Amino acid sequence: MPENRVPRRRRYLVCEPRHFAVQYAINPWMHPGVRVDVALAQEQWRTLVRAYEDHGHTVDTVPPVPGLPDMVFAANSAVVVDGRVFGSLFHAPERRPESAYYDTWFKAAGFDVYRPENVCEGEGDLVPAGRFVLAGTGFRTTREAHREVQEFLGVPVISLTLVDPYLYHLDTALFVLDEETIAYCPEAFSPGSREVLARLFPDAVLGTREDAMAFGLNSVSDGRHVFVAPRAENLAAQLADRGYVPVPVDLSEFHKAGGGIKCCTQEIRETRS
Ligand code: ARG
Repeated sequence: MPENRVPRRRRYLVCEPRHFAVQYAINPWMHPGVRVDVALAQEQWRTLVRAYEDHGHTVDTVPPVPGLPDMVFAANSAVVVDGRVFGSLFHAPERRPESAYYDTWFKAAGFDVYRPENVCEGEGDLVPAGRFVLAGTGFRTTREAHREVQEFLGVPVISLTLVDPYLYHLDTALFVLDEETIAYCPEAFSPGSREVLARLFPDAVLGTREDAMAFGLNSVSDGRHVFVAPRAENLAAQLADRGYVPVPVDLSEFHKAGGGIKCCTQEIRETRS
């Protein structure tokens, strides 16, 4: 008998894809000049926002800025734990200007924002999971940033090395299901990092590389409902077996920029859970 999973209400921050485009290439998914259907992207994005609201979550929005086509990927703007906001310092010069706009939103919403010294891309690579923050490195966020976020949040940080250029952010290869467990694609990690994950999360759901390439491991969970890419069928079946409720949301237009559901979603964790 699968467990009866209990959802927890969340607060999410998102950014409308009004200016979404693929204008530069900073990961292997991006082919500048590819046609992006902005109307379809907006429809897909609105479906995601509606799915969050229909499941009882609060959704805040930061205004999109012309000339910043990746700003829709709100997860990269910060990581927020106990109301402490650790901002971002983007690897790519094209994305660096986004931080000022996100910081303005956080300040207006009543948060102080810590400005990091080292390259780090928010929840793209810094993923709060139970008693730890899981931290990716290899393509974007640096090890120095892992130390910096540990010092700022006072939460033990576990450094994990990513090895697949298509799975360049930690959140393309791993997501948190609830306080106890996670789902991830082992092939995305170095051998040592795989061992670390197996020790910390012996009950994790393991996705295939196909699940990851369908952006299935770029999912958002409220502890019961898992907002997940529809093509990650193997993963969705495993989640259902374990008592989670997959909620399929198709963000195919965003895959052209190397992003999915989680990339579009920043979680604002205000209080200790
Ligand atoms: N084009 C964006 C980049 O390469 C996609 C970001 C995806 N975000 C994420 N959290 N994985 O930076």
